[in-house]
Amino acid sequence: MAQTPYKLPELPYDFSALEPVISGEIMELHYSKHHQAYVNNLNAALEKSSEAMSKGDLGAMIGLQQAIKFNGGGHVNHSIFWTNLAPTSKGGGTPPKGELMQALQKQFGSLEGFIEKFSAHTVGIQGSGWGWLGYNKSLKELVMTTCSNQDPLSTQGHVPLLGIDVWEHAYYLQYKNVRADYVKNIWKIINWRNVEERYAMAMK
Ligand SMILES: [Fe+2]
Repeated sequence: MAQTPYKLPELPYDFSALEPVISGEIMELHYSKHHQAYVNNLNAALEKSSEAMSKGDLGAMIGLQQAIKFNGGGHVNHSIFWTNLAPTSKGGGTPPKGELMQALQKQFGSLEGFIEKFSAHTVGIQGSGWGWLGYNKSLKELVMTTCSNQDPLSTQGHVPLLGIDVWEHAYYLQYKNVRADYVKNIWKIINWRNVEERYAMAMK
């Protein structure tokens, strides 16, 4: 029983299009090596899981859950991340507007207030992880949170809107150990149009 294999999504811009905020070298490695590895390992784990299921081997199926969560999370998270970014020539860094902006102002005082709090939480993640702006469907409000490793935001029950990858592979070649500078600069290439679209979909 073969699974449909997952594939790398198309990157919506060239590797060097996010310079000088993120170097082309980082983007190429991050997309072609790191994201590709999550996809490959997810497909391998799903195939093994499918085999185990066909044999009725529950122990093997349970043993594969962590690999599916980690690599599946890596695939989900990076697929969102690429679309959350845009070159400045294509609107990257242009502030949010409409309902998203109103919600950010209502919950965080201002866009600047949100960016400040989000950045502090995200820079402070111990080890590898992601900073997230999500939407809580039951409370009907935005949530600002962090996830460890590649745990997708769905593990906290929220809809992902904007994720910032703070694994060292996302910035080390350019920013070395100074995660704070990477997070400070990334706001210059945030694709708020994409975040607005995700917010509109989440509220439906
Ligand atoms: Fe990453």
